[in-house]
Amino acid sequence: MNKLFAAIITVAIVFGITSCQSNKKDNAMIEKTSFGKTSKGEEVYLYTLTNESGAQVKITNFGATVVALYMPDRNGNLQDIVLGYDNVSDYEKGTSYFGAIVGRYGNRIGKGKFTLDGKEYQLATNNGENHLHGGNIGFNKVVWQVLKTDAADGGAEIALKYVSKDGEEGYPGTVALTVTYKLTKDNELEIDYSATTDKPTIFNPTHHSYFNLSGNPENTILDNELMINADKFTPVDAGLITTGKLEDVANTPMDFRKPTRIGARIEDNFEQLKFGKGYDHNWVLNNYDKTVKLAASLYEPKSGRFMEVLTDQPGIQFYSGNFLDGTGSGKNGKPYKFRTGLCLETQHFPDSPNKPEFPSVRLDPGDTYRQTTIYKFFTK
Ligand code: GLA
Repeated sequence: MNKLFAAIITVAIVFGITSCQSNKKDNAMIEKTSFGKTSKGEEVYLYTLTNESGAQVKITNFGATVVALYMPDRNGNLQDIVLGYDNVSDYEKGTSYFGAIVGRYGNRIGKGKFTLDGKEYQLATNNGENHLHGGNIGFNKVVWQVLKTDAADGGAEIALKYVSKDGEEGYPGTVALTVTYKLTKDNELEIDYSATTDKPTIFNPTHHSYFNLSGNPENTILDNELMINADKFTPVDAGLITTGKLEDVANTPMDFRKPTRIGARIEDNFEQLKFGKGYDHNWVLNNYDKTVKLAASLYEPKSGRFMEVLTDQPGIQFYSGNFLDGTGSGKNGKPYKFRTGLCLETQHFPDSPNKPEFPSVRLDPGDTYRQTTIYKFFTK
């Protein structure tokens, strides 16, 4: 009897302590502050999501943009590892898509033209003679509605919504898109997309954070080791429009199947790298089956930060920050120089609407577009 009593007390104490610890540990939270006003006078906000270990992501409802992301280095020091601006007016003026949700169509559509059900559509040609990242006022330049914020299970999340009207930027159909950012207790930044349309349309949003895992944007990304889980990439022409072919990465500077320093071959005399002024290409992810799997990883040797990118998308654009040129001023008034940030944009292949051989980007009424992409952070 005494033994039973002792056992019950022991169990009670153990459970008591555990729940007390987890309560104490669970200090995940969300804070909302002003992020200023757009030029049209719309108030925008900055939401700071903090997980139980102190990692943080700051998101504004202007462009559903990741403004800052604080992750630990191998000594536990939290540093901001994404590029961005300090205020909304710089985001309004900016041309780099820092941290934004890009849409309706991430990357390029040749000559801004496509045909759907026999009707030709003309979009803005805002990148030479081609259409880029949704046009003149893409999803990155509009104010999103905040549907909810929530902190639970040691993590925090925010859901944002944007309704793009029929004809906006030349695209058919009213599209309603919800993007949920979740910062989990395991230092994952998960991005879930869900969208519907009221008319047949094309749809291919992506996320455009520029990572600099060193935590110091004065450093280039050239010594980062990148792995991309792809045997093939989609070669482009001089205007960076996909040719429709898939090419083997083997024996080319596009082969990142084993972790490789980005700077190792970026200046090689390889036509595709000349066209992109560095890496600015889409890789064809291996074993695409619409489930979430490892697409890429990135390691920064000095800080020890290591990032994995997981997605259910068929492609990933690796852009090595070749258009960053040290003009303009980023966070803390500092300009971002050539190749001081890189993007890993999960997506359907560029110019898919004009390449019937590529996976389809068509979205019909009654169907729901979904995407899940996870940026997961560790140290080594
Ligand atoms: C994408 C494009 C690049 C460039 C950047 C933003 O990665 O492929 O060419 O436009 O966005 O500058």
